[in-house]
Amino acid sequence: MIAAGSMVAGRYEILDRISEGGMATVFRARRLEDGGIVALKILREQFASDVEFITRFEREARAVSELIHPHMVRVYDSGADGNVHFIAMEYVEGENLKEYIRRHSRLEAPRALEIAAQVCDALEYAHAHGIVHRDIKPQNILLTREGRVKVTDFGIARAMSSATITQTGTVLGSVQYLSPEQARGAAVGPSTDIYSLGVVLFEMVTGTLPFEGDSPIATALAHVNQTPPPPRGLAPALPVRVEGIILFALAKSPSRRYRTPGEMRQATPRKGIEASFFTCSTPRGFPSSRPPFTAGRWSFSRAKSASTLAAATASFAMTRPVCPLSGVATRPDSFTARSARVFLITT
Ligand SMILES: Nc1ncnc2c1ncn2[C@@H]1O[C@H](COP(=O)(O)OP(=O)(O)O)[C@@H](O)[C@H]1O
Ligand SMILES: [Mg+2]
Repeated sequence: MIAAGSMVAGRYEILDRISEGGMATVFRARRLEDGGIVALKILREQFASDVEFITRFEREARAVSELIHPHMVRVYDSGADGNVHFIAMEYVEGENLKEYIRRHSRLEAPRALEIAAQVCDALEYAHAHGIVHRDIKPQNILLTREGRVKVTDFGIARAMSSATITQTGTVLGSVQYLSPEQARGAAVGPSTDIYSLGVVLFEMVTGTLPFEGDSPIATALAHVNQTPPPPRGLAPALPVRVEGIILFALAKSPSRRYRTPGEMRQATPRKGIEASFFTCSTPRGFPSSRPPFTAGRWSFSRAKSASTLAAATASFAMTRPVCPLSGVATRPDSFTARSARVFLITT
């Protein structure tokens, strides 16, 4: 039994309990070496006896401890004291995003995008280092007292193979944020994090979840089969482009989402440009060469590629009844004979 005053591995003194989850209990603890305050995540006993799980858990913790980023919770140390398996990490004083959303009912679009952008930064960095989060959900997005984002539990979900979950009968608590490929038990890549962040962004701006079934299985199936409700149906004041960002991130097929968190980050606002990406299929005869007008990385579709505009508008209109378009651009490297990634500039 771990309580206030307990020592762990001769290095940490437990101060108090922060939270009890399905997989672990999180304590605030003092590191004896320097008196620093850390968050100590201690695995539940049922996992501690699963050797394969423990091996994966420690390997992931070690991999993540090498990553240092302003929007990632630092992992300092991991180890075992008897059958007490722990991770010592940066303690974030504040609240998690779930609590923050509840407190505000729903967030204004600029604040929601600011939070999403910081999560994108952390994901971009982690993906570049070969770490996929796999469990992006508001409980793993911590907010400091200053309102800055720190994402926690990178890679830990990887240690939780489906075998472990079924053996112990523990239900993954985050089924509302599962990507379709996770729900199907298929191979999972970096874009699973983009989908889950799309769900989080949906929840931030609407205060509700896109998919919620009567059971975890029903919810998982909804991710696979159901079209997400248009966020503006729930939050009519939401700018169209923000709805576009969410629906694009929530594409069922990983290849139709933002290709990287950096790309999703770019869709969040910059002064003067309001834009979002999506991929559209085009009719036969679509020009596979570069359109005539280029500006920086972007090739702007002019007269020659009227079909681009038509395809873009038509494709977007399928998801939105009204779309105030002021421009359309396509990226030359994204052209194929039948599809293009389209960059919409909306007003
Ligand atoms: N490094 C940390 N600093 C402060 N609080 C934390 C930290 N890590 C986790 N927490 C808090 O503990 C809670 C439980 O974490 P966890 O056991 O990972 O379960 P879950 O992420 O499913 O809620 C989190 O929701 C968060 O509020
Ligand atoms: Mg967590």
